[in-house]
Amino acid sequence: MRIALVSALAACSSAASAQPIEERAESAHSEPFYPSPWMNSKAIGWEDAYVKAKDFVSQLTLLEKVNLTTGVGWQSEQCVGQVGSIPRMGLRGLCLQDSPLGVRFADYVSAFPSGQTVAASFDRSLMYQRGKAMGQEHKDKGVNVLLGPSAGPLGRHPEGGRNWEGFAADPWLSGVGLAETVKGIQSTGVIACAKHYIVNEQEHFRQGGPNVSDAISSNVDDKTMHELYLWPFVDAVRAGVGSFMCSYNQINNSYGCQNSKLLNGILKSELGFQGFVMSDWAAQHSGVSSAVAGLDMTMPGDVAFNDGKSYWGANMTLAVINGTLPEYRLDDMAMRIMAAFFKMGNEIEQPPINFDSWTKDTQGPMHYYAKQGNQQINWHVNVQRDHRNLIRDVAAKSTVLLKNTKNALPLKSPKFLAVIGEDAGPSPKGPNGCADRGCNSGTLAMGWGSGTADFPYLITPLEALNAKTADEGTRLESVLDNYAWASTKALVSQADVTALVFVNADSGEGYITVDGNEGDRTNLTLWGSGDQLIKNVSSICNNTIVVIHSTGPTVVTEWYDSPNVTAILWAGLPGQESGRSIVDVLYGKVNPAARTPFTWGAKREDYGVDIIYKPNNGAGAPQQDFTEGVMIDYRYFDYKNITPIFEFGFGLSYTTFEYSDIKVEKSGAGKYKPTEGKTTEAPKFGNFSTDLNDYAFPSEKFSYVPYYIYPYLNNTSSAAEASQDPHYGKTAAEFLPPNAVASEAQPLAAAGPAASDEPGGNRQLWDVMQTVTATIKNTGSIVGEEVPQLYVSLGGPQDPPVQLRGFERIRIEPGQSAEFRATLTRRDLSNWDVASQNWVISEHAKTVHVGPSSRKLVLSAPLEF
Ligand code: BGC
Repeated sequence: MRIALVSALAACSSAASAQPIEERAESAHSEPFYPSPWMNSKAIGWEDAYVKAKDFVSQLTLLEKVNLTTGVGWQSEQCVGQVGSIPRMGLRGLCLQDSPLGVRFADYVSAFPSGQTVAASFDRSLMYQRGKAMGQEHKDKGVNVLLGPSAGPLGRHPEGGRNWEGFAADPWLSGVGLAETVKGIQSTGVIACAKHYIVNEQEHFRQGGPNVSDAISSNVDDKTMHELYLWPFVDAVRAGVGSFMCSYNQINNSYGCQNSKLLNGILKSELGFQGFVMSDWAAQHSGVSSAVAGLDMTMPGDVAFNDGKSYWGANMTLAVINGTLPEYRLDDMAMRIMAAFFKMGNEIEQPPINFDSWTKDTQGPMHYYAKQGNQQINWHVNVQRDHRNLIRDVAAKSTVLLKNTKNALPLKSPKFLAVIGEDAGPSPKGPNGCADRGCNSGTLAMGWGSGTADFPYLITPLEALNAKTADEGTRLESVLDNYAWASTKALVSQADVTALVFVNADSGEGYITVDGNEGDRTNLTLWGSGDQLIKNVSSICNNTIVVIHSTGPTVVTEWYDSPNVTAILWAGLPGQESGRSIVDVLYGKVNPAARTPFTWGAKREDYGVDIIYKPNNGAGAPQQDFTEGVMIDYRYFDYKNITPIFEFGFGLSYTTFEYSDIKVEKSGAGKYKPTEGKTTEAPKFGNFSTDLNDYAFPSEKFSYVPYYIYPYLNNTSSAAEASQDPHYGKTAAEFLPPNAVASEAQPLAAAGPAASDEPGGNRQLWDVMQTVTATIKNTGSIVGEEVPQLYVSLGGPQDPPVQLRGFERIRIEPGQSAEFRATLTRRDLSNWDVASQNWVISEHAKTVHVGPSSRKLVLSAPLEF
C-alpha cells in the first residue's frame, strides 16, 4: 500500500527532498487561495451548532450581521474585545478576554501556572483540568471567548518573549497541550481561541516599528509549515476549538490576517475549520481584502486603537450593499461566530459581564474611552473556587529536577537553610505592582504582557519555606538582595548550611520593555546577576541547591556541573502558589517527574537561530528566513550533533526506573485515499435592503458614543459615502484576486476532511498504524511517576534524527512495573509532500524509540509496514 502511494508521487517528492534544508526558505511563498470556504453543515461535531446558527443568522439584518463581526473599539466596552450586540434578538455583545493563564484585568481570579509550565508536567489530565478551571473563571465573569491557548510562538528562539504563554518547543507536545486546554476551556461553555496563527516567533517588529514600513515577515516553506508550526493548530481544530486568532506578523510577506493561503487554504479548506478567525488586536490591514482572505472578526474593531475608524463596521455594511463583498461571505462570518457560540452549549441570553477591564472602581463609565454611561461596572465576583489546590498541584508536578547529587533532595528536616536571592521573596511593589507584570521584582511567577492575570495573592518561596521550617525546628535565614554579597557570604559560610538559591529570567510581550528587553530576551543569562550569585554561593557552600524561575532556558554552563551545586530545579512560571508548590517538591511530598519542554544549550549560538533585533531589510519589512526548516530546539541539536546540557524531555525523580521489553504491533490500516469531491455552493441566509436610508444611525433610539465602532453609515448618500474609496466605481473582480468572490461549489482538499468528517484533516491521518508497548519498572524504594517518551526516526535526509510522537505520565509503586502503551497514527509517520499537497509515508526505513528523554532512548525497534 505504502509503496504504491510513494511511487505515484515519487517524481515530485524526490525533487523536494533533494533540496538542502538551508535553501528551503527560497520556496517560502503563500500562493493565493480563493474563495473563502463557507461552513459545512455536515462537519462532525458542528451539525447541531450549524442548525442553530442558521436559524439565528437567517433572522438577522445586514447591520446585525456586521455587528457580530466588528469589535466596538478599544476600551469602548468592558472586555479587551467586544463585538456589537443584537438587542432585538436578546444577544448582548460577546466578550473576548485574555489570557492563557487566567482572567486578565479582573479581580478575585486565580493566577495559574503558565502554559509552558504545565507542558513540563507531560500530564494530559493536568493540562485539561487547568483549562477547565480557567474556563470556569472566565465563564463566571461573563466572558464568552478566552483568548488562549497559544501555540504561536512555538519556540523557534529560546529568547522569544512569549514562548511561556504556549507550551513547548515541540509540535507534538504543544499539540497535546493545545488540545487538552481547548477541551477543558470549552467544557465550561467558553469558546477557546487558538493563537497566534502563525509563525509569530518573535516580538521585535511583530507590528513593524518606527524605522520599518511593515511587520516582520516569517518566511517559511510549506513542508516546514505543515510538519512543524501548523501541527499543534491541527490538534486544536481536531479538539473542536471555536476560534482562531491570526497573528501580527507577515507570513511570506503577506499579513497573517489576510494571507489567503493560510486562512482560506490551510485553515478552512485543508483543516476544515468551522469556527471563526479573529484578528489579533489591530493586526488587520485591509477591509474587503481581509474578508475574502478568510478573516471573520476584526478586533478590537478600530483601525488603530481609539481612532474611531474601522476597516469593517460601516465599510462592511456598504461593501455588501454595493456588491463588493458577496453577501455569503458576511453570512458565513456570522454563521461561524454563532456556530462556535452554540457548539459550546450557550443560549442567546447570556449572563451579564460583571467586571471591567479598565478600572477596578465599582462605579464608572461603561464606555471607558468615551467616559460615558456611568453605572456599576464591577461586581467584584470571586470566581476562584478551590482552584488554588489545582494550581499548587500543577506547579509542583511541573517542576523539573535537572540535577540531584549527594542525596541533596528531598530535604529531610535540614538543620539550617540559607535562602538566597531576590527571586525567593516578595516584590516591594506588591505582586501586581507593575501593569501587566511589566517589571521583574521579587519572585517570578508569570511573564509580562497580555498573557497575564492579577494575582489574588502570591505565596513566595520564602514564605512557604518559613511555614514549613517553623514546624520542624529548622533554622532559616534569608538574604533577598542578589548584590548583598557580604551578608550572603556571612550566612553561607557557616557550618551545616544548605543554601537554596532562587534565580530567574523574565520575558514578555513586546509592548512593554523591561530592563532593555523589548519582549524578547536580549540574552540567555539569569537576571540580577543570578549566575554570579550562584557561583559565589557555590564557591563557599558545598550544598548549594538552585531553583530557576524562567520563561525558557538559560545558559547554566558556568556553574551547573560544580560539585557544590548539588541540585537544580526548573520551576517555570508557577503562578500564585509558587512557594507551596516548590516546598512540596523540595521536601518530597511530590516526587518530581516533570520534563523540560525545551533544550538547555551550553551557549546561545548552539540553537542555530536567533531573534532579529535590528532591521535587516532597510526600511522594508524585516525578513526572517526559516532556513533551518523543521530543525529547531532538540531536532537541531541532534541534527548538528551538538551536546546540550539538559536535553528536551529530560527530568529526574527521587526514585529510579528501568525500561525493557519494547514491542511493536502493526495494525491493518487501509490504503490512504486523498479526499475527493466538492463543497456545496455558498449558502446565503436571509436578504437585505439596498436602500441606504435603512442604514442610517438610529439617533431616535440611542445616542452616539464617540469612538464607538458602529455598523451604521455616517451618510446615506451613496456617492458621497463611496467617493472617498480608491476603488470607487470598480467592481470586485477588478481589484480582488481571481475567484475571491466565487460562490460555486469548490473542490475539497486532498489532505482535508470529506464532507461528513470531523474537522482537522483527512480522516485517515488518524488511523492507528502501529502500537508500541514497553515495560517500566520502579527500581527505587519510593513511589514515583515516570514519563516514558516515544520518538520516531522517519529516516529521510531532511527528517530530524528523532521526533516526539507519544508520552504518558505513569505512577508506579516501588518494585512494581507498568506498561507504557502508545499508538502511532498515519499522521505521526508521514511527511508533508508539497507537490501533491498531502501527507505521504516515505520509503525510508523507520525506527521507534522509547526512553526517559530525547537523548536517553534506551529501547528501539524497527517499524514494519
Ligand atoms: C496580543 C494578544 C491578545 C490581544 C488582546 C495582543 O496584543 O498579541 O495575544 O490576546 O492583544 O489583549
